[in-house]
Parts: sequence; C-alpha cells; structure tokens
Amino acid sequence: MKRILSGIQPSGTLTLGNYFGALKNWVKIQHEYECMYFIADLHSITVTQAPNNLRENTKKAVMQYIACGLDPEINTIFVQSHVHEHAELAWVLNNSAYMGELSRMTQFKDKSKSQKEDAIKVGLFDYPVLMAADILLYDPDLVPVGQDQRQHLEIARVIARRFNNQYGKEIFKIPDGYIAETGAKIMSLQDPLKKMSKSDANPNGFISLLDDRDTIIKKFKKAVTDSENIVRYSDEQPGIKNLINIYSCVTEKTPKEIEKEFESVGYGNFKMAVGEVVADCLLKIQTKYDELNKPENEGMLRNIYEKGANRAEEIASKKLREVYDTVGFVVR
Ligand code: TYM
Repeated sequence: MKRILSGIQPSGTLTLGNYFGALKNWVKIQHEYECMYFIADLHSITVTQAPNNLRENTKKAVMQYIACGLDPEINTIFVQSHVHEHAELAWVLNNSAYMGELSRMTQFKDKSKSQKEDAIKVGLFDYPVLMAADILLYDPDLVPVGQDQRQHLEIARVIARRFNNQYGKEIFKIPDGYIAETGAKIMSLQDPLKKMSKSDANPNGFISLLDDRDTIIKKFKKAVTDSENIVRYSDEQPGIKNLINIYSCVTEKTPKEIEKEFESVGYGNFKMAVGEVVADCLLKIQTKYDELNKPENEGMLRNIYEKGANRAEEIASKKLREVYDTVGFVVR
C-alpha cells in the first residue's frame, strides 16, 4: 500500500485554509493509502509560543483531526515531538542543505522581513530542513499539502537527492507532492492577496474551525471585496474570487455554476450565503469536536498519541539507524 505523510502546525486554532487545503483531502484519501498524519509542534516554536497555548493547541489539533473525519483506527495520528527521530534526522540533513537555498525560501523571507537580523531565530531559518526530515523518515509516496508548502516540499526532494548522491545509496525515497485543485490556496478575508493564516494578528482575516455561527457570518460580512458588485470569478476581483473558491470547496459546485447561481445578487447576499454554508459545514465538525473534548475522553486521546507514536517510531527508528550507519556513526 502506498504511503502518505503530512502535518499541520499547532500554532493557533486550525483554519478553514487548513481544512480545505489539507484536512478535507486527507480524509478523502484515508482508505486508499497508509496515512501518517502528525501535529508539527516542533515547527511551531520557530515563532514564540506561550507554553500553555502550545499544549492546548496541540491537544485541540488532535481532536480536530478526528472531528474532521480522520479515523484513528486506520490512520497513524501522532505528535511530532513524541518521535525524537525527527529532530535527529534534521541535524544530519542540516549537512545536506545550504544557507543560500534556505535563505531563498519565500516563507522565511516573509516571516523574517520585519525582524532585525540579530532577532531572527535559527529555527525559523532551518524550518525546511526539519520538514524534510519529517517527510524523509517515512519514505512516503505522496505528501498532500496546500500551495504554500510547495517550495518546502521541493527542497525536501532536493535534500533527499543530494544525500542519496553523496552516499551513493537510495536511502531516501523522493516523494511527490499532492496539491488538490480546489482549496489549495484560501486567502485572508481581510487581505485577499495574502493566504489565510492562523497566525494572522487580525482574527477577522481567518475562520477558525471552532468559530461559532455568528462569528463566521460576521467575518464573511466584513470580508474585503471591491465595488463591482458582480459575483465573477476573476483575478481582478481577488476578494470575490476567494469567496467563490470557499463556496466551491463546501458545495463542490464549479465557479461557473456559482457565478450563475448569484448572477443577479449583490455582494451582501452572496457573502451571507457563503457564511451560511461554511457555518453548516463547520457545525458538523464542531459537534463531533465537542463530544471528543470531554474529560472522560482524556484516556482515549492518550491512547491515540501512544499508538500513533509507537507506529511512527517503528518506521522512523529503522530509517534513522540506516542513516546513521550510512554517514559513518558507530551503530550500537
Ligand atoms: P501549516 O500548519 O501552515 O498548514 C498545514 C496545511 O494546511 C495548508 N494550508 C492552506 N491551504 C490552503 N489555503 C490556506 N490558506 C492554507 N494555510 C495552510 C498548508 O499548505 C499545509 O498543507 N510546514 C507545514 C507543516 C509541516 C509539514 C511537514 C507538512 C511540517 N512538516 C511535513 C507536510 C509534510 C506547515 O507549516 O503547514
């Protein structure tokens, strides 16, 4: 069976972007592949996190994975920091990555541009190498991600090839990306030229998977659009284009069908309609989440971490051993 691997950072509550760009697709393919889905908590600390928030967000993310439809019985769901091999392989791969290529990563450039060089964390710079380690430990065939992770995935492939060439062995499989056509790039509701992000300082820019109906409708009503007042799928109307994309992700209608459906309707009504379908869609997830988020389920969640970490470790420890042997470390 082919293998899939992917992860989400618990640096806040998960967003509609994470759902349409990642989770919804993960759920669709969970029966066709052996799937490894993790919570990327090691990645989260590249941006300062309050420890209690990080802990809470990590637990919430596990419950949201399940509430979105991932079945813990058939998928390996785990927390990245529970499997120490991720950090260890990242150290080795640091020696197969170059400063120049890492400094050209657009996410690094974006996240570091407002900071003085003395205050930019090495972890933020090195983040793609840790991501390469996450992937290469498991020899996945496919890595399903949103558009914004394309460049990171590419560098993981470059690092894998370079390592294999240096040691003259096919230690790492070169994985393919899997970027779904719709939902791969959900934009901020407040700035449709920026991706929707859980770390946006303005909470009106993103929809959290746990936002209640009123909040969702309010955020869509406030969504930044333009003055055309025609529901049209065009790059010149990025705000409306984004809303059409979101509506399309929920209803699975095409942009053409949506243009037709809202032909003679102004933006106000269209925004309401998008808010309504999103609120309905998230309500199902939230109902399941609320059931899971009860003190009596603590034990069940612990079992999921435990089972996930054990399965992940089984694969990761073998690969790391092979890597250590290959680079010349004395294997115990
Ligand atoms: P993260 O936590 O930023 O996002 C998790 C997943 O959600 C997708 N995504 C989006 N898709 C569409 N529209 C958006 N606005 C949007 N925002 C986020 C992302 O593309 C991603 O698929 N570095 C990764 C986490 C990671 C990882 C990995 C992923 C760490 N190691 C190994 C795959 C394989 C990240 O920060 O994703």
